[in-house]
Amino acid sequence: MDTSISHLISSEAKRQSEVLEMIPSENYASSDVRAAVGSVFMNKYAEGQAMKRYYQGNSVVDELETLCKSRALRLFGLSEAVWGVNVQALSGSPANLAIIAALLEPGEKILSMYLPDGGHLSHGWQLPDKKITLVSKIWDITFYHVDTSTRLFDYDAIAAQAREVKPKLLISGGTAYPREIDHKRMSEIAHDVGAYYLADVSHEAGLIAGGVNASPFLYADVVMMTTHKTLRGPRGAMIFSKKELSAAIDQSVFPGIQGGPHEHTIAGIAVALEEAHSEGFKAYARQVVTNAQVLANYFVSAGLDVVSGGTDKHLVLIDLRSINASAWVVAWALEFANIIVNRNTVPFDTGSSVYPSGIRLGTPAITTRGMKEEEMKKIGVWIMDVIHLVKDMHLPEEKAERLAFIAQTKKEFAQHHELRAIADRVKSLCAAFPLP
Ligand SMILES: Cc1ncc(COP(=O)(O)O)c(C=O)c1O
Repeated sequence: MDTSISHLISSEAKRQSEVLEMIPSENYASSDVRAAVGSVFMNKYAEGQAMKRYYQGNSVVDELETLCKSRALRLFGLSEAVWGVNVQALSGSPANLAIIAALLEPGEKILSMYLPDGGHLSHGWQLPDKKITLVSKIWDITFYHVDTSTRLFDYDAIAAQAREVKPKLLISGGTAYPREIDHKRMSEIAHDVGAYYLADVSHEAGLIAGGVNASPFLYADVVMMTTHKTLRGPRGAMIFSKKELSAAIDQSVFPGIQGGPHEHTIAGIAVALEEAHSEGFKAYARQVVTNAQVLANYFVSAGLDVVSGGTDKHLVLIDLRSINASAWVVAWALEFANIIVNRNTVPFDTGSSVYPSGIRLGTPAITTRGMKEEEMKKIGVWIMDVIHLVKDMHLPEEKAERLAFIAQTKKEFAQHHELRAIADRVKSLCAAFPLP
């Protein structure tokens, strides 16, 4: 084995086991999933669809991909007569690109959620004066916003905007929206103006599979999900589409934007789909949400501005402006206390994507370790302790001063007595809940 890399793998394994991994899009795949991803399937080229390949030697791969697809349909209770599924997209962003390219001609209109309100880059993110994503360079993007006071979807406003914009595609879903989306209403808004409705449930996939979040399948034309977040599989994506759209989507994935599918990943996805089709996984999904709600309630009671006042899902978004704390400082202080969250934009953010005003934290990974309500209470207190310790530290506005502050602050945090004490407590808790 390459000693440099095996050393890095051991270091990362140690890091993952000793911290509270609270980034909502992360999870711990099982050892069976990881074994499948590391299997001999990685050696095989398999361009095309099962039984319609461009390379020889694909009889076993065909069986694998067919099984993976049937497990995907079974998990979400879908009939093969109505739905098709593509399991070849390399990840969520290429999956969204493939869907858009299949459904729209270049230049046609998309209505999607504004990124700083909780949307996703791959839904066509652009600035007023700069096209950031390829999607925004090819298609005509308009964003909808959450309501200024509730910070929730305002369906009447989205409907009015859809009537005005007349998009060909309406997209829901995002990275930092803590509440359930009304898929029925979104599909009506789309269909009333002749648009397709794409539900991107990358974050909620495992919660939908586990029956704790509502399914979009009754309403959406296309459902995209990544496989590595709450669904707890390897990094990848699945695109479910109404049968009449499936051939175009398959062709858009390959040869439209990709070459050979990663069959080793498809093997890992198939394992994860079987694991998710169990009572144990339903209990896991329920606990993920319960844990997030315990944390959200605690933060509300501690006086923090929890966006939307709570959560229906696996994630909690906190706007730190109400206590005048810096999200950069808080996120780094938490990291030195062995609690990994990410700084994130919040609705109507006055900061930037690098220095936003909020932190986003989630429970999928720590729930996989077996942590429950009792542990959430401890974690909530530690997070509040860290926030109180650093809340008066602010990033300077001026760039050179800011860089000096960042370097100095990280050094101080590494020596910080109280942060180190919390880090030790976190490590002891983690030791009692080993990784899968
Ligand atoms: C809603 C949503 N869509 C798409 C993606 C993109 O997935 P990937 O990072 O696999 O490209 C993400 C990832 O964070 C996401 O949250």
